[in-house]
Amino acid sequence: MHAKRMNWIDPSPTVGIANKVAELKAKGEDIVSFSVGEPDFDTPKHIVDAAKEGLDKGMTHYAPSNGIPEFREAIAEKHLLDNNIPCDAKHVIVAPCKHTIFMTCLAMLEEGDEVLIQDPAWVSYEACVAITGASPIFVDTREHDFHFKPEAIAEAVTPKTKMLILNTPSNPTGIVMSKQELRGIADLAQDHDFYILADEIYEKIIYDGIHHSIASFPELFERTITVNGLSKAYAMTGWRIGWLVAPLDIQKQVAKIQQHSITCIPPFAQHAGIRALTGPVGPVNDMVEEFRARRDLMTKLLNELDTFEVEKPEGAFYLFPKFNSDKSDFDFVEYLLEETRVVVTPGSAFGPSCDKYVRFSYAASRERIKEGIERISVENHEDVLKPPV
Ligand SMILES: Cc1ncc(COP(=O)(O)O)c(C=O)c1O
Repeated sequence: MHAKRMNWIDPSPTVGIANKVAELKAKGEDIVSFSVGEPDFDTPKHIVDAAKEGLDKGMTHYAPSNGIPEFREAIAEKHLLDNNIPCDAKHVIVAPCKHTIFMTCLAMLEEGDEVLIQDPAWVSYEACVAITGASPIFVDTREHDFHFKPEAIAEAVTPKTKMLILNTPSNPTGIVMSKQELRGIADLAQDHDFYILADEIYEKIIYDGIHHSIASFPELFERTITVNGLSKAYAMTGWRIGWLVAPLDIQKQVAKIQQHSITCIPPFAQHAGIRALTGPVGPVNDMVEEFRARRDLMTKLLNELDTFEVEKPEGAFYLFPKFNSDKSDFDFVEYLLEETRVVVTPGSAFGPSCDKYVRFSYAASRERIKEGIERISVENHEDVLKPPV
């Protein structure tokens, strides 16, 4: 019999959908997938070349568990210069971003603790918290255009609150938190003595707002674990390179888990990571500009459909529209897949309040965006898709 804790988590719905899409595609079906959480671009060539160079240099053995020193230094420098976080290499651990979140939860949480999570939020936070025995507490953000407002957080804080998970720019909504909102959260963390896990993986995919790191408030560094990585901005999801920056007492605890689990990230991949952080920024800027054009296109086309309502988000590569149908979000997604071969992700995969929403990823070409939205146009599905209420 499996451990009790396995009953506290479900399989990832997004990975489940990706597997189903792969199966249908393998059968030759023409699927338009708006469910993917990864850029469809190739990793920039100078980064691939650096990995090859690393392999040629024989960087194929174990690396230091926390990361190779030059990479940790480059990461610390990036956070100091771009994000104003007062850190250096000793605060860094290199690991896949998702694994840094998992390790942080394991190192920090236990039964009886409560963790505040914005609703909706990326699906794995809930699982990473729940597997430790701690309780995820969702804070509904719909009333505030999905912003994680200090006023709403203040109502949810209890003496058991141990941590708050903050994701800006956000998956699935694309909102970008303002400096003032972060200041409010920072004050609450100080007043009520809780930690912050700040997931900034979409930091560079931002169109209108400005990204701020909560760990840049001087008094917040000691209670913030900032996680980030190369997956999204550099189109490197398959490389599994991310990191955390944490105060030393927390970094040391997480380091033990890393040593006893994945040991290290392949050194040739880290070698490429150094090139990503220190090399030309042109390729990243080009990808962001293409994402901007897709965001504009998809927002316009979806709003024209007259069953979805969505604002243009400031960051990430997702739209999170409300839909109007008698169907539940899971049934609606199933319907779209069966009838139109278009794949989106049900809103309640991201939080309990969002069963009338779906997530569209625009990590797909403009041609495919036009094709997919044409397929689901209301005229073709009047019995299921209704105008917004
Ligand atoms: C908000 C958020 N954080 C973390 C991750 C995980 O990133 P990685 O694949 O680099 O581990 C994702 C991936 O979808 C994400 O959307």
